[in-house]
Amino acid sequence: MLNTRIFAQRRKQLMRMMGEDAIAILPAAPVLIRNRDVEHGYRQDSDFYYMSGFAEPEAVIVLLPDRQQGQYILFCRDRDPMMETWHGRRHGPEGAVEKFAVDEAYPITELDEMLPKLMEHCERVYYTIGLNPDFDKQVINCVNGLRRQSRGGKHAPYEFVALDYLLHDMRLFKSRDEISLMRKAAKISVQGHINAMKICRPGMKEYELEAEIMYQFNRNGAGWAYPSIVGSGANSCILHYTENDQEMHDGDVVLIDAGAEYDSYAADITRTFPVNGRYSAPQKEIYDLVLAAQDAAMKQAKPGNHWNDPHNAAVKTLTKGMVELGLLKGTPAKLIKEAAYSKYYMHRTGHWLGMDVHDVGDYKVDDEWRLLEKGMVMTVEPGLYIPHGSRGARRWWDIGVRIEDDIVITKDGCDMLTKGLPRTTDEVEAVMASG
Ligand code: GLY
Ligand code: MN
Ligand code: MN
Repeated sequence: MLNTRIFAQRRKQLMRMMGEDAIAILPAAPVLIRNRDVEHGYRQDSDFYYMSGFAEPEAVIVLLPDRQQGQYILFCRDRDPMMETWHGRRHGPEGAVEKFAVDEAYPITELDEMLPKLMEHCERVYYTIGLNPDFDKQVINCVNGLRRQSRGGKHAPYEFVALDYLLHDMRLFKSRDEISLMRKAAKISVQGHINAMKICRPGMKEYELEAEIMYQFNRNGAGWAYPSIVGSGANSCILHYTENDQEMHDGDVVLIDAGAEYDSYAADITRTFPVNGRYSAPQKEIYDLVLAAQDAAMKQAKPGNHWNDPHNAAVKTLTKGMVELGLLKGTPAKLIKEAAYSKYYMHRTGHWLGMDVHDVGDYKVDDEWRLLEKGMVMTVEPGLYIPHGSRGARRWWDIGVRIEDDIVITKDGCDMLTKGLPRTTDEVEAVMASG
């Protein structure tokens, strides 16, 4: 976990932006049932964790910038020896004050009674509506309760403000400590991909590569940031393929999109390699083109350029290359205008990356693509997918290639967080041969 000082700084920054007469309310992620008595593995809400470092469910953060003392209040589960014996340790309100720099902490069971009192003197409520319908009701009930008591002198806030709007702009810019965690998530992921390349043999099942990757994530204290995609042959052309249960054949490629989550920060990496260790001529043609598109995109990833520049560069390179190969017919400029490339390249070239794999932050500001700035982290992930039956493209049927790396925008360009993972066909083949 990051130092508690960092979380305190974030709260301070948010409270400065909230101004006077305001309250912020932020609930923890709910527990989700997987099947019957079994819960999904608990993952704290990213906004909640970003503000607190507190990973337990059934908790609510309240921020009150106007208070002289007790600006940061946390409601959380009480200690309970019996529950802790069955389900695991809890910090309890006392532990929250001690370990998480909380000013005041109360049992979550007291929230309904205390929230109206805390809200009563506020004009504005910073709260993200629509993510957690049950909690939305609790907040609305609280406001309505105050309204009903207006003749008794109670005051209800008159304005709701989207909390995520402020928080997400903060989260978009990563601090040095966050970049360090992201480098660690990337490093663990790189090791997973390298090991998968090394052990891959025709006749193995896709899930064997997934297992190798998960082994590397778990043994390094990480989990997955999203379910791994391991698609060989025709499956390499299915963008969100996650069954991962087919046998991998000699002569096919396998596309692996897998990234670790380390201390709540994600990596997101894709590599595509030949199951038998040697790219065939058609596979290499597609691979080299996607690699050229990634290089072109990365060159555009620098401060002052806008968010869409890397994507435009990738599209330009891919379209020109597809014309040269004979996958598309026409002039590149016209094909780009008509989006003809989307037949084989149907997604965008990247997204913000952070605590969420598709991280928060606006891509447009005032209807214009956002300018790239130092500290933003994003993926660069061009691809080409040529499914079985594509007309005039038999040579490349069932070849899906994506190459995805993670970068941070620096003062004058970008730095790759996912260094150390083979990118060129020669590099990939060398690593596979060493396995
Ligand atoms: N792994 C999801 C993505 O690449 O966006
Ligand atoms: Mn991605
Ligand atoms: Mn990915």
